[in-house]
Amino acid sequence: MKFNKKDLNTLTKIITSRRDVRGNNFINKKISSKKLDIILQSALNAPSVGYSQPWKFLIVNKEEQELVYNHFSKSFEKSKKNFIDKPLYNNLKLEGIKESDINIAVYYKKNKDNVLGQTYMKRTGEYSVVCAILNMWLTARALNIGMGWVSILKPKKINKIFDIDKNEYKFIAYLCFGYTKEFYDEPELKKLKWNNKKKLKDCLFT
Ligand SMILES: Cc1cc2nc3c(=O)[nH]c(=O)nc-3n(C[C@H](O)[C@H](O)[C@H](O)COP(=O)(O)O)c2cc1C
Repeated sequence: MKFNKKDLNTLTKIITSRRDVRGNNFINKKISSKKLDIILQSALNAPSVGYSQPWKFLIVNKEEQELVYNHFSKSFEKSKKNFIDKPLYNNLKLEGIKESDINIAVYYKKNKDNVLGQTYMKRTGEYSVVCAILNMWLTARALNIGMGWVSILKPKKINKIFDIDKNEYKFIAYLCFGYTKEFYDEPELKKLKWNNKKKLKDCLFT
């Protein structure tokens, strides 16, 4: 299959208009199981080290969601001490656990066998899971569904909520999916002047 300029333009548009969506932007509208399936299937098409496909997805129920939210709230409070020089941090909305429609916890399934490509770079399995997450993020955006990544969480606590054995799985991400009021044209943290966008020249070793 060969792509044309229009395809590239569409891909670029999806990449540049993908946003991290938080509770201030999710709306109360259900995601159909068909659309959820499209998002999950996109994860399965991600590249993975040695084609190991080491991802596992856990669709969170309401009771677990509540527990994760309570844990987030405590963790967020504790994290504030790391940003006392940046008072804006205290007022940021950094999750959409309860406002979003579907929450998915993403795990890396540890492999006891040797994996092609993972001999010297052990974390390539985890990188593969992150590739799957980006596929989900972009596919959701193409469906006009927002996704927010929540990482102000302690993996140990999250494993406890889901009764997951850390010897078998490693917690990678907590994702919130839902329809949105809008997609900002630029990252919210840029809008709020938390950070600026880097220029390409600043990202290249010279
Ligand atoms: C690994 C990872 C962890 C993140 N954790 C959080 C988080 O805990 N809370 C949050 O509000 N955003 C989180 N984000 C979203 C980033 O803040 C966001 O991607 C960044 O500000 C750029 O904005 P954009 O995604 O809308 O372009 C996370 C993103 C990544 C890739």
